[in-house]
Amino acid sequence: DKAGFDHYMAKEIAEQPGVVGAAVNSYLPAGGDLVELPGGNIDFTKIERMTMVACGTAFYACLTAKYWFEKLARIPVEVDVASEFRYREPPIPAQTAALFVSQSGETADTLAALRYCAGKADKILSVTNVAESSIARESDQTYPIFAGVEIGVASTKAFTCQLTVLLSLALKAARDRGTMSEQELTDAAAAMRSVPGLLNVALEQTDVIKAHARKLSEARDILFLGRGLMYPLAHEGALKLKEISYIHAEGYASGELKHGPIALIDKKVPVVILAPSDDLYDKSISNMQEVMARSGKVLLISDRKGLDHAGDVWGQIAMPECHPLVSPIIYSIPAQLLAYHTAVAKGTDVDQPRNLAKSVTVE
Ligand code: F6R
Repeated sequence: DKAGFDHYMAKEIAEQPGVVGAAVNSYLPAGGDLVELPGGNIDFTKIERMTMVACGTAFYACLTAKYWFEKLARIPVEVDVASEFRYREPPIPAQTAALFVSQSGETADTLAALRYCAGKADKILSVTNVAESSIARESDQTYPIFAGVEIGVASTKAFTCQLTVLLSLALKAARDRGTMSEQELTDAAAAMRSVPGLLNVALEQTDVIKAHARKLSEARDILFLGRGLMYPLAHEGALKLKEISYIHAEGYASGELKHGPIALIDKKVPVVILAPSDDLYDKSISNMQEVMARSGKVLLISDRKGLDHAGDVWGQIAMPECHPLVSPIIYSIPAQLLAYHTAVAKGTDVDQPRNLAKSVTVE
């Protein structure tokens, strides 16, 4: 039941304030800043390193989590796509927690990577949307994301719920390890509780995003750029766009622009820049100027302050101001809606894109 929406994907994008709210309430109950883990406790003081493994969108959730765990809890994190990890047969040092992220819990390569780590890693953890799935069952501890059934092949609400759970785990790790002050933990918990409301504000930009998407639908190639926590989201935005609109898109770290991709830029190539007004904003804006100097069409996604400071660009999408830690969850909305409305403008089969399956249980 699409509940009045044209596609499941649109319905699932719109559901995010509710389902992310359910995840926040489950991991941060009772108004304080204590994280409770519905999947059972972990003592992060015993963990010296983490290895995170997943495919596709779940891989980009892991890449985002690396920034959180390293910055907040000072735990070194390696992230890999499951199909590479499993055949590389990497060494697993003592005191490693291996974490697998999978919406379906049945992705063949991710499951094989988990089985490779069983008996080698100190802990096998997973973050899934299906409690009875193979990945959930074969983990020492599994953390539910509360997204509800996701039908659209392009993952949307599962991604933001995965991010919510991974940030909760990182905050729990930071508390265990004493790497954040009480004040920082309180602020971070408050920021997480503000997410559902901010997602609603982000969704109010739908008409603006739709108008930009119509212009994007005429492009052959599109670049997505981001720094820090926006870097994994640049990849996710590009993946979402290519899988449902069939427009070629690539995500890059903004700082990598001058190491190659800048050669692609001309007046036909839209460049979507994800740049909230945080510590890295000035660096992102200087990359934006490099793009504009080569006649690239910049679509800037930032908050009011960031947009006002940037001057005249080809297109702007305004996001609410938010605590920098939760920005990837909020900025997922424009990334998803751009892909969705571009695909709708092109008339593709949004919920069932060609060549793709919802659950990849074969290699
Ligand atoms: C992209 C998408 C895929 C999946 C990937 C992993 O929108 O849906 O990239 O994220 O196939 O699937 P799960 O999370 O079920 O392991």
